[in-house]
Amino acid sequence: MPPLPEHHPHLVQPSASRPMSRDIRSLFKDLVSLLLFTSQKLPCPVPVNFTVLDCRKVDPAPASDFRILFNRYEPVNPLSHIALLVLVPATLTGVFLSSFPSIIRIAACTFFLYHSTILVSVLAYRLSPFHPLAKYPGPISCRISKFWMAWVSSAGKQHKYYYELHQKYGDVVRIGPNELSFRNVAAISPLMGYFGLPKGPHWDGRMAEQTKIRAMIALRDPAEHARRRKPWARGFSSAALKGYEEILGKRVHQFVTALEQQQQPVNLAEWISHFTFDFMSDMAFGGGSDMLRDGDKDNTWHLLESGLPLALILTHVPWLGKYYVRLPGIGSDLKKFRSFCQERASLRRTQGSQSKDLFHYLIDEAGVERSPPTFAEVASDGVLTIVAGSDTTATTLSSLFWALLSHPTAYRRLQAEVDRYYPPGEDASSTTHHPQMQYLNAVINESLRLFPPVLSGSQRGATKSSGGRLAGPCFVPEGTNAFVHVYSLHRDPRYFSPMPNTFWPERWLSEDDRKALGYPDSNGTDKTPFRHDLAAFIPFSFGPANCVGKNLAYQEMRTVVCMMMQRLDFGFADGYDPECWDRDLKDYFVATKGKLPVVLSPRASNR
Ligand code: HEM
Repeated sequence: MPPLPEHHPHLVQPSASRPMSRDIRSLFKDLVSLLLFTSQKLPCPVPVNFTVLDCRKVDPAPASDFRILFNRYEPVNPLSHIALLVLVPATLTGVFLSSFPSIIRIAACTFFLYHSTILVSVLAYRLSPFHPLAKYPGPISCRISKFWMAWVSSAGKQHKYYYELHQKYGDVVRIGPNELSFRNVAAISPLMGYFGLPKGPHWDGRMAEQTKIRAMIALRDPAEHARRRKPWARGFSSAALKGYEEILGKRVHQFVTALEQQQQPVNLAEWISHFTFDFMSDMAFGGGSDMLRDGDKDNTWHLLESGLPLALILTHVPWLGKYYVRLPGIGSDLKKFRSFCQERASLRRTQGSQSKDLFHYLIDEAGVERSPPTFAEVASDGVLTIVAGSDTTATTLSSLFWALLSHPTAYRRLQAEVDRYYPPGEDASSTTHHPQMQYLNAVINESLRLFPPVLSGSQRGATKSSGGRLAGPCFVPEGTNAFVHVYSLHRDPRYFSPMPNTFWPERWLSEDDRKALGYPDSNGTDKTPFRHDLAAFIPFSFGPANCVGKNLAYQEMRTVVCMMMQRLDFGFADGYDPECWDRDLKDYFVATKGKLPVVLSPRASNR
């Protein structure tokens, strides 16, 4: 029996580097040799009056050997699970069948012993000092199994949980048997930079149904990811962004005009969502959605958001995705949403578009790509445009208005700046003044700092045979997943101080401008040194897989905020408790938000 190398015990990650067919062949070979080895090792003959209690007389070594098999191959395929967890103990049962009067008793005993030994040895290994992540602190529940995080995250508050863990344990926390969360700037580049790690197995669970063609965001092979990202990069170049001004301007006009007509309190968060969805449909498919006019009559927003909690659970336990896709009826909302987008993509391709939208670049209408993406790839990226571009921007804009209404000084300052650059009659959809509008940019960045829509960041994985990676002072061994926890990083007083948990846009201004406004010590009470470390500001992630839509997102947010502030006055609706905002904000990888009831009135100068 050849010695089996000991790897980390996580059962869920496939080895990215090893071809599947070779995996299965060597798994089978090892399985057979282990079975032969096991049958020699089992105590024989076993006493005939064998009971569950007698299990302790049986040598548990064979099951431990199968645990090593799990560790080595980390099978994610249901067939491998059946082979290892059902067929092996069934075969062992068969070996002793002739010596026992009752097949049920020996089967029960073999299965019990086999599974409990695997379980105990896996748990013991994960908690042992021999585990590669043993030196990193973290709660026992996290170190034992990712099912714990799946459970915690189902309530939508994983960002707060990670935040508390970092407060308790420090900059690096072991949040899974095989996963680390970082809260320091030194880890950003080694994990996500140009020589960083590829995307983690998180996406195998999240996009489990995409077995053949994956959306770009879920591609774990860096070379393939780079190939697919090329048309996206052209679609977000400065020239392309200039071309989107008209598409954006029309939607923003429609949005603000619709708001002006509202006599009753409205849920501003919902209106903003409808606006971002319509705008993203314009960008991705040249139109096809008019929620601002019709409301969400097809329940599309519900389809988009209802799958998020389940998707988050699958990101924690990716192998569950293999079972999930086989279950009839499960995830039907997500499937409906995807087919809705696929139809739009086909229509856009056949009908063409009057303007150069994002799809123009994605389907390479200009014919400049040497290996243009296939239509299936583009259709899948069309879905991505909507998912990645609408919820994120909607959450940031909603948080921004919540923060402005909770901080009247900031509200007044922003309004004064908007009035200076876009007085009544000036077209607020023009982007000409955006670079000079320091307070506008400060308000947007402060909202992204406090409420980054991808609250917990994006996972990376050190593949097997990669040799691992040094992230700052900490080593990330191969086979380990890791991420920088954005919510904790953005609220760390070493990087943003004073008042790291407070909405304070003035921190983004130059020192002279801040002093002119009486900060940082306007009350003479706050003696905390001022810190503002831009390297720790990563709401759009970092490196070659960061948010490709970042510039569009800024352009969209600046334009819509300018026009809203130019034409409307806002206030919280009576009875609204501002504390609800943070409570209702849920981390389902992309954040979801609660209601934002506001009263609106057209500004006197615009009437
Ligand atoms: C406030 C707005 C937005 C925020 C905070 C945001 C944030 C993010 C983050 C954190 C990622 C994950 C990157 C990673 O895995 O490291 C991402 C990816 C992505 N975002 Fe955004 N996003 C925003 C708006 C948009 C918009 C408007 C679009 C336009 C379609 C967009 C398109 C994408 C795409 C295509 C990816 C995948 C990039 C890749 O894998 O290469 N995002 N975004």
